[in-house]
Amino acid sequence: MYRAPRGTSDILPHEQGYWSFVKKKASDICELYVYQRIDTPVFEDARLFVRSIGEETDIVEKEMYSFEDKGGDLITLRPEGTAPVCRAYVEHGMQTLPQPVKLYYMAAIFRYERPQAGRYRQHHQFGAEAIGDSDPALDAEIIDMAWRLYINLGLKELTLNLNSIGCNACRPAYLDSLKSYYSRHKESLCADCRRRLLKNTLRLLDCKNPTCLSISEQAPRSIDFLCQECAEHFDKLTGYLKLLGIPFSLSHRLVRGLDYYTKTVFEITPEGETGAQVAIGGGGRYDNLIEQLGGKPTPAVGFATGIERIVLNLKKQQVAVTDTPTPSVFIAYLGNEAKKKAIELISQLRNAGISAVGTFGDRSLKSQLKQADASKVRYTLIIGEDEVKSKTAVLRNMAKGEQQTIPIDRVITSLSKH
Ligand code: HAM
Repeated sequence: MYRAPRGTSDILPHEQGYWSFVKKKASDICELYVYQRIDTPVFEDARLFVRSIGEETDIVEKEMYSFEDKGGDLITLRPEGTAPVCRAYVEHGMQTLPQPVKLYYMAAIFRYERPQAGRYRQHHQFGAEAIGDSDPALDAEIIDMAWRLYINLGLKELTLNLNSIGCNACRPAYLDSLKSYYSRHKESLCADCRRRLLKNTLRLLDCKNPTCLSISEQAPRSIDFLCQECAEHFDKLTGYLKLLGIPFSLSHRLVRGLDYYTKTVFEITPEGETGAQVAIGGGGRYDNLIEQLGGKPTPAVGFATGIERIVLNLKKQQVAVTDTPTPSVFIAYLGNEAKKKAIELISQLRNAGISAVGTFGDRSLKSQLKQADASKVRYTLIIGEDEVKSKTAVLRNMAKGEQQTIPIDRVITSLSKH
């Protein structure tokens, strides 16, 4: 028996209602904020992700699906959406367009993680990126967009956690201070954190080990080390968020798991959830990334949200979504002549834009009617030998249980009226 690979899942027809609901709300939001869709390849040159996400991150160190293709190129299945969008921005000369360029995507993402509820090896993200402006009002717009999406989806009790991790000018002093603080606690740190102390200091704040977590509580805070520019940026951003009525909590330990961030970082978490895998969405500013990828210095900000995590939360919060559409008409028939008539009629109904299904194989009328009932159709048309002779059909209103005989050439007009 084959099974879907560990950490992946099939999105079965009965789940599709949630998915189309989320995707529709996301694309509606993009229309409202005037963000344009972009689709990038499922795989890219591995170096794109190593360069942008950072060599010392969990994603690059442990989670990338990388392989050499038959031509000898090292390829990686997309572990996130920002780097490919920035690659496309540079490659297609989008810096010549009016700035900021506002783009969005919905895409499958691949990370070799330890699967558990809400954490998969293939998941899907809706993400938005605004590239080409350093105004904190753009950070506010991105956060506002994410926040509005969750509100429009009907999700409640979400917390917006916000922090600023500074820029190339002010971060080194912060990292020094962090390093000396953690060095004093070196003996108590987990093995991973001792390594982080040498290689990726900022990520120390991200550790979920209980001892490291308690050490991080007293750790120096990045906002106390911001240079004037970063401090002003953060100040303006929090001002705009207040103006927009978006509540936020300052979270000094929020650093995010990707290295490209500068200044603003944020995550949105359902209330009562803790731990790394529970953020429903996150993002921030990444003012150096485009330049790192070979473009001109270009500030940018964005966010992404996991669709699986949204669906989990919709279910948890019992948000009702519209059901998957059911066919309008089921056509049941008895005998060969009636079958021909049914095939013709189904095609005519579809031509008229009315969704119609029939049955296949030679089933009894009783079993066909059972099938009609199960498919939750609004109408069933029954054509037997008598109906073929009299050029009629029996039209049954399933909800009311009423039926009437109508001329077959009046079926379309009669159903169109309904
Ligand atoms: P991220 O926080 O790594 O950010 O992922 C964004 C969202 O994807 C998470 O908040 C979560 O909902 C979902 N997600 C991440 N990993 C998994 C997983 N293994 N299983 C299920 N869901 C998951 C980014 O990827 C950045 N590119 C976001 C960004 C855009 N920053 C700026 N622009």
